[in-house]
Amino acid sequence: MKIGIISDIHGNAEALQAVLKELKNVDKIVCLGDIVGYGADPVFCIEKIRELEIPCLKGNHEAAVTGELDLGYFNEDARLSALWTRKQLKEHILAYLSGLNRRITICQDVLGVHGSPRQPLWEYILDEQTAEEIFSYFDFQIYFVGHSHIAGYFTFHRKNKVVQYVSASRGAEVVIKRDHSYIINCGSVGQPRDRNSQASFAIFDTEQLIVHIIRIDYPIARAQDKINRANLPGFLAERLSMGI
Ligand SMILES: [Fe+2]
Repeated sequence: MKIGIISDIHGNAEALQAVLKELKNVDKIVCLGDIVGYGADPVFCIEKIRELEIPCLKGNHEAAVTGELDLGYFNEDARLSALWTRKQLKEHILAYLSGLNRRITICQDVLGVHGSPRQPLWEYILDEQTAEEIFSYFDFQIYFVGHSHIAGYFTFHRKNKVVQYVSASRGAEVVIKRDHSYIINCGSVGQPRDRNSQASFAIFDTEQLIVHIIRIDYPIARAQDKINRANLPGFLAERLSMGI
């Protein structure tokens, strides 16, 4: 089976459509949260996810627009975009976002979460130390995560306990070895921050035991134009072409 893993769409309809086109032949798609926030098309993105019956986790941006998280934890641009996004969403859509789960079992020993298994909404797994703590505490073969918008993966040799990090800012092929565990960040569909502006996503081939992290072009200028026309903070448009 081939499973598409997407995350951090952030209201970017152009990037989402480009990624879904690439995923049209997979058997299933899973979304790890942050459908909304930052971008100008939150409603389109939510409706697309629902129409395709893609199981989706709750990200910190969903928790922000539904009032579960205090906007005081957000920086100014994120806060302004959360307030703008909330205004675009009707009650039934807010109810859908409120009801999203925080964890998902993708298949046996393969799990998904937005941030980290310890703190699904908030924790970033950015360094070997954090990854090692998670590898040591939780039992799994693969944990797919999003949240940082930085594509890459940590490997953990279960016998000698060595953790290594590999960047996937230009894409990657991860061959899953039985004696290793993996934390794989599929990167962000709609707001990559690893200095590559291309949309990021992953495809997990459960028979071959290979995860491909893939980067593709999408019409960035169109997404930027919509952000500017919505009077959202200008930096939210600028950063898309810089990949930051
Ligand atoms: Fe995000």
